[in-house]
Amino acid sequence: MSFKPGDGVFSFDVRKSRECRKWMISQSIYMWVAKLLYILQLQPLSYLHCRLFGAKIGMNVFLGGYLFDPWAIEIEDDVVGGGLTLVFGHAVEYDFENRRAIITISKTKISKASCTGANSVVMTGSTMEEESVLGALSLLVKNRSSEFQKAYGGVPGKEIKPRVK
Ligand SMILES: CC(C)(COP(=O)(O)OP(=O)(O)OC[C@H]1O[C@@H](n2cnc3c(N)ncnc32)[C@H](O)[C@@H]1OP(=O)(O)O)[C@@H](O)C(=O)NCCC(=O)NCCS
Repeated sequence: MSFKPGDGVFSFDVRKSRECRKWMISQSIYMWVAKLLYILQLQPLSYLHCRLFGAKIGMNVFLGGYLFDPWAIEIEDDVVGGGLTLVFGHAVEYDFENRRAIITISKTKISKASCTGANSVVMTGSTMEEESVLGALSLLVKNRSSEFQKAYGGVPGKEIKPRVK
């Protein structure tokens, strides 16, 4: 049996949802080591650890933060992530219509030569297209894409006109 959770929207209730149980187990096993490696600033080991849990990480990548849900994350070559960048492959939210908590698990991608600023957040299901920039303290909201060679800043991230192209 695989503990890797599948993509989709599931009840966030371990009694009702098998995928939720799988996510809880995988996340618990993965996360404590990820946080320890982050505290010790052991980046090369951290990439190895993420890859072991299914992340696709290219060459010449530097991540100053850490990944949640490595099984749902792809990071291409030459990506730079500033300190405390958080990349998510899941989102736990409240479904008001059905009055229950849900978890959405979907693929998140940071494409070649993109750059994220310190304390930025890339949410689940989003894609940073090639050579795009997410500024410091900014949020790329779920299921959105940045555009090729464009910069975004703020919460939620909106296109900004960078001084340097
Ligand atoms: C996004 C960024 C690359 C733009 O830098 P820049 O090209 O020098 O652009 P400027 O500082 O001239 O800002 C251009 C505009 O974007 C806005 N802006 C810049 N960074 C922003 C951010 N993080 N969030 C929201 N708006 C931002 C500025 O207020 C300015 O707006 P204005 O034209 O209305 O005055 C830069 O601000 C940034 O956030 N870099 C990340 C650095 C970092 O965290 N590195 C990793 C750790 S060292």
